[in-house]
Amino acid sequence: MIRINEHYLKLKASYLFADIARRVTAYTTAHPDQPVIRLGIGDVTEPLPPACVSALHAATDEMAQRATFRGYGPEQGYAFLREAVAAHDYAARGCAIAPDEIFISDGSKCDCGNIQEIFSTDVTLAIPDPVYPVYVDTNVMAGRTGANVDGRYRGILYLDSTAANGYVPAVPSAPADLIYLCFPNNPTGAVATRAQLAAWVAYAKQHQAVILFDSAYEAYIRDPAVPRSIYEIEGARDVAIEFRSFSKTAGFTGTRCAYTVVPKSLQAYDASGQAHSLHALWNRRHTTKFNGVAYPIQKAAAAVYTPEGQGQTKALTDFYLENAALIRQAMTALGFACAGGDNAPYIWINVQRDSWEFFDLLLTRAQVVCTPGAGFGACGEGHVRISAFNSRANVETALQRIAAALR
Ligand code: MLT
Repeated sequence: MIRINEHYLKLKASYLFADIARRVTAYTTAHPDQPVIRLGIGDVTEPLPPACVSALHAATDEMAQRATFRGYGPEQGYAFLREAVAAHDYAARGCAIAPDEIFISDGSKCDCGNIQEIFSTDVTLAIPDPVYPVYVDTNVMAGRTGANVDGRYRGILYLDSTAANGYVPAVPSAPADLIYLCFPNNPTGAVATRAQLAAWVAYAKQHQAVILFDSAYEAYIRDPAVPRSIYEIEGARDVAIEFRSFSKTAGFTGTRCAYTVVPKSLQAYDASGQAHSLHALWNRRHTTKFNGVAYPIQKAAAAVYTPEGQGQTKALTDFYLENAALIRQAMTALGFACAGGDNAPYIWINVQRDSWEFFDLLLTRAQVVCTPGAGFGACGEGHVRISAFNSRANVETALQRIAAALR
């Protein structure tokens, strides 16, 4: 008799953003005359930067000619993109990351979800709360947790991120083996200082642990003192894997391109205590289960690093940050305590009531979609996340509607 992976039965019935999409579809089907503005899932709305579009066209033309056509590329990504990433995102910021430590992929969601496969199922997890639900759900699927009791899975060391700690959890006193950190943070929009990240690197060294550092939103950092990469912290090469994406940097949510950095100096241990290279394990996994990102998409991603691409992506992220400032101002003026939005495209709002109730209120009275904080964890209750990803006209209309609905 075929049997299922019963760890799936511990999960909530649907993924957070799928659940929200289902509720919004039910509402719009019942009220087709009431157009909804989506500030829920962080999905970009502005077109690809022109430099990326030109590169995409040129590469597509190459694929149309026998002489320049390409089939399978290297699973880890083409050298032209890995070299551009190493030079611009790392060497330029003083981080020693080699091109062959960079694995090009089709998204950070997939990479964050897949990376846990190379670790033992009995490692201790430390995961912030609130948090991007992929980190938790993929570990539940793998059997690394117990049952969900009162909104929290047994076996996870939760790192509470609250207004009291500025949404940056301090290192715990208890040991953990695999630590998830995300800065700029999804969902709170908080950033971590150099000293805070250094404390995490020291903790990981002390416990022979690994940090999984999600910096998908680094392009939104405007404060020059805030590190954009964990590798700006001394010693991080020996304890951290970093995830980055072109999705929110250059509008690639539909185009799909990201990368994961696994330094060759990073090691983890087998049951006998013998050290193994995580780069070798991830390379083994990647080459077995992935066939690379499409050549035209990698060419488009590489165009981000041209002078034109750099200017255009800065303008794009500036645009969303201006939206974020408008949202934060408007929600603050309505009397809510807000965090985030200055170095991140998310505004985290203390709505002082049940977060799904506030979600329903905005949907039914303002026709605006937000994300209920409870969907990100127990500490998210009482909050909602509003995303800055939309057109200026839609953001302005949404804020007018919210003000009218709450009056
Ligand atoms: C979010 O809204 O949290 C993100 O869009 C999710 C993602 O990038 O997968």
